[in-house]
Amino acid sequence: MKGTAIATPNIALIKYWGKRNEKLILPTGNNISFTLDEQLATKSTVEFSEKYKQDELWINGKNYSNPEQMKKSKPQLDFIREIAGINTKAKVVAESLVPVAGGLAGSASGLCAQALAAAKALNLRVSKKQLSIICRIGSGSACRSVYGGFVEWEKGESPDGSDSHAIQIADENHWPEFRCIIAIVEKKEKKVKSRAGMKKTVETSVLYPKRIEYLPLAANIVRNAILKKDLPTLLEATMRDSNNMHSVMLDTWPPIIYLNDVSKQVINSIHDFNSEGIKAGYSFDAGPNPTIFTVEKHVNEIKNVLKEIERIKDIIVSKSGKGPRIVEDHLI
Ligand code: DP6
Repeated sequence: MKGTAIATPNIALIKYWGKRNEKLILPTGNNISFTLDEQLATKSTVEFSEKYKQDELWINGKNYSNPEQMKKSKPQLDFIREIAGINTKAKVVAESLVPVAGGLAGSASGLCAQALAAAKALNLRVSKKQLSIICRIGSGSACRSVYGGFVEWEKGESPDGSDSHAIQIADENHWPEFRCIIAIVEKKEKKVKSRAGMKKTVETSVLYPKRIEYLPLAANIVRNAILKKDLPTLLEATMRDSNNMHSVMLDTWPPIIYLNDVSKQVINSIHDFNSEGIKAGYSFDAGPNPTIFTVEKHVNEIKNVLKEIERIKDIIVSKSGKGPRIVEDHLI
């Protein structure tokens, strides 16, 4: 009862920040992402066996099996066991090229790889929709990693979460020139984890209701811009949404500040770079690392802009990923 899968992170163009149901991980609004290629992938093997007395999680050779460290992994394993009608414990061994909790969408690739590997281990025939729901039970953003290309997480209406899953807006062949540049400023674990942070925002930010009100409009703009390959419109909406999310973070009490001086320098440099028309669009998740969306022909110019910024340690340029896949070379 062993399965292995590779999944990749995704970076949101319209961000997910806030839940209406904590347990089922149901978001307050639709959100939209771009799936990355395998440069930052996570490979995961899941084995269900009577020889394990409790669930175990190992990432890059390190033991992450205490309850706090397994708070994303375990509910997903429980959910999949419920579907399969078993109680057998599991060992999960993952190799991740994404730093753990560094604000680089590592939980998206990790929980998507675990979901697919576990489904394979138990020989479950799951549709993409079901797989997306299983991913979501681990980590919200993971539900978007089940597709390549551009993906929307439909928030759904049903209280049981059965209609809250990802759909594909356009596959990886729709806009082959589209790129996501990831600049690494910080690999350390963030102080405020996304899960705790977004809960506080929902509870305390006075600006947050305005964000929920504007999200459907922003999602429409981004979805249409993707379908029309309208780069300036897409990038403006993306930058504005990142700024909006970081505003409600700052408006949270106590305030949550993920952006640092390097992030702010990137914001200013990209606006300078765009002075004659929008060619690059920044976006930040729950950390200071910038992701810059663009198309192939502007990549070198943008890299040069980023290289001027001292504390940027590494730059990764990603094409669209194709979504997760099952592999046969197990890690256990
Ligand atoms: C800032 O998916 O990590 O990256 O559902 O609680 O596991 P949980 O949160 P998670 O949050 C990601 C938030 C974000 C924005 C985004 O990816 O949309």
